[in-house]
Amino acid sequence: MTDARFATPEGTATYAARRRAEGLSDAGRGFDGLTLSSVGLGTYLGANDTVTDRIYEAAIGRSLELGCNVIDTAINYRCQRSERAVGRALATAIAAGTIRRDQVFVATKGGYIHYDGEPPPDPAAYFRQTFVLPGLVAPEEVVAGSHSLAPAFLQHQLDHSLANLNVSCIDLYYLHNPETQLEEVPTDRFYRRIRAAFETLERNVQAGKIRCYGVATWNGLRATAGAGSLVSIEHLVTLAREVAGDGHRFRVIQLPYSLAMPEALTRKNQAVNGTLMTPIEAARALGVYVMGSAVLYQSRLAQNLPSEIRTHLVGLKTDAQRAIQFVRSTAGVGTALVGMKQVSHVEDNLATLTVPPLAPAVVNRLLAK
Ligand SMILES: NC(=O)c1ccc[n+]([C@@H]2O[C@H](COP(=O)([O-])OP(=O)(O)OC[C@H]3O[C@@H](n4cnc5c(N)ncnc54)[C@H](OP(=O)(O)O)[C@@H]3O)[C@@H](O)[C@H]2O)c1
Repeated sequence: MTDARFATPEGTATYAARRRAEGLSDAGRGFDGLTLSSVGLGTYLGANDTVTDRIYEAAIGRSLELGCNVIDTAINYRCQRSERAVGRALATAIAAGTIRRDQVFVATKGGYIHYDGEPPPDPAAYFRQTFVLPGLVAPEEVVAGSHSLAPAFLQHQLDHSLANLNVSCIDLYYLHNPETQLEEVPTDRFYRRIRAAFETLERNVQAGKIRCYGVATWNGLRATAGAGSLVSIEHLVTLAREVAGDGHRFRVIQLPYSLAMPEALTRKNQAVNGTLMTPIEAARALGVYVMGSAVLYQSRLAQNLPSEIRTHLVGLKTDAQRAIQFVRSTAGVGTALVGMKQVSHVEDNLATLTVPPLAPAVVNRLLAK
């Protein structure tokens, strides 16, 4: 028995050992002493309704049975419905004995203004009432009409996420698409905002509300070198070190990575000690874990992969499995996040865990296609 409030080395290792005994070839990747599954479940897509809540809950429950112990969500996904579905699914699985809290790694994100269950009829009035009047955010701290890294706003979101997820500690808290800020603020102010956000997150680590933090991005880490929207991983690590010293808890980057969006592996856009590297190389050099997102290119890779790709991916039955296999086989990618709310998709996708990852030469050959 354990009363741990978060994923632990012992809990995640026990979970992985059980999966290996059940026949999984690759039951985990090492991160900070934890053992995380190479495929994680994402909760971005879907309608804002109860039917979708229920199917997500079933899918999350099934994924925990089949060897997936990484769950990725965000407060704004489906107007908080995804976080709440994760919370209910976890409570059900823990009560049923499928998993213990110390065996599952729960990640969420803050930064986008969140709605409550569904978009409000008057978003401007909702924003003013919910965030501006209580003093959580000033209008000038919001960019693109939807995004803020203001400390009080982030704290409000984080506390809400704890309640939605029904946990007292979140394993990983991301700043969600922080590069959105670069659409409107100059780079130096952007990094000052990041620094203030990191101070808030380090305080939450100290308070036991989160275990570590990171950035989850769309363009920010994949942009071409020199592009205005590019975020420097080295600079983020430097800021975290300035805030909390060598024991800082900035530990993870998330970025899209798939057969259709391979820049994490191919684009040398990140300077580390003056040398240009790919995001995956930079993360490795800086000791940061990589979560690849949108592994199925938001479902488009799940059908009609070209035959020259298929022939390199033996032992797999579906195009979804092949696309996942490419990502989870890429050296330097820790966990491949796949959005899956249907139990049939969970079963299809997690079958890849029974197949050994590809050799590096095959990954390179696929990239060249
Ligand atoms: N910037 C960010 O922070 C960011 C950006 C993108 C994604 N993410 C995270 O990464 C996760 C994954 O990305 P994503 O959800 O955008 O896209 P994705 O994983 O590339 O694709 C998800 C879509 O593929 C479908 N699918 C899953 N398995 C399938 C299968 N075996 N056969 C056919 N279709 C299948 C899903 O359907 P069903 O849902 O109906 O099962 C869903 O429509 C997200 O859920 C989110 O957690 C984060």
